[in-house]
Amino acid sequence: MSSIPAKAGFKIHTRVGSQTAGLADLPALQRAVADANGGMPDSFRPEVELMLWLRADGKALWGWQLPRPGFKTRKLEPGELRPELAHVMGLLASLDHKDTVLDPFAGYGSIVRECLQGFHCQEVIGVEFSEHLVPHLKSIPHLIAKHGDAARLPHIETRSVDRVITDPPWGKFEPKTPEHLEHLYYEAMIQMHRVLRIKGCIVMLTSVDYIPKLASEIGFTIEKQYNVLVNGQKATLYKLRKLAA
Ligand SMILES: C[S@@+](CC[C@H](N)C(=O)[O-])C[C@H]1O[C@@H](n2cnc3c(N)ncnc32)[C@H](O)[C@@H]1O
Repeated sequence: MSSIPAKAGFKIHTRVGSQTAGLADLPALQRAVADANGGMPDSFRPEVELMLWLRADGKALWGWQLPRPGFKTRKLEPGELRPELAHVMGLLASLDHKDTVLDPFAGYGSIVRECLQGFHCQEVIGVEFSEHLVPHLKSIPHLIAKHGDAARLPHIETRSVDRVITDPPWGKFEPKTPEHLEHLYYEAMIQMHRVLRIKGCIVMLTSVDYIPKLASEIGFTIEKQYNVLVNGQKATLYKLRKLAA
């Protein structure tokens, strides 16, 4: 909180559970922020927006609510990941603008768009199997968009990619049997291992439970793992590091 601009006019948003709600202690909170920061409450044109969220599980979240750049306000397609979550995946991957990034399950391109527009990565490749989604990818400026199969990737050179950031199918809506889906993950993770440079990493969002098993079979170590809720569905965000061969 110390990094917000000094003497900035601020507004505090408050939520209780899933609802926006007023808070009896708001004036005291405003005074505390004003004392720390030197600014004044300003509901009309605040420079800084803060959020206090009292969750139903008894935990409280307190932080700086960042503004949304224009490219994050477009209407999302069904199943498309929110750009904020795609951004968190980029942060978890420690993305650098010099990185070559691949999403082999690119869908409508939320992750690859964030890599280009949010992190300004130089080379971003999106691969998607469904033909009807490929034009969406091709419309994203500077993206290398490919129609292809994540389990094959013949067009991507061995050890040419720094980061794989991806959100593969979760098996909820696709007509795949669980065995087919696990096989797809296995083959796709072998390809990710092949195309990644030594010590490259994967950041993957999924609800399947066999990632630890596949990671150790294929040659990745789990560096970080977070349980998340995505549209009410339980999922896990993994950071996997490629082990030196
Ligand atoms: C969970 S969605 C990804 C959504 C994406 N993150 C977005 O924001 O639009 C998974 C995507 O993987 C694609 N897919 C399924 N099997 C594939 C395969 N073998 N190779 C490449 N893409 C595949 C699906 O068509 C779907 O678009």
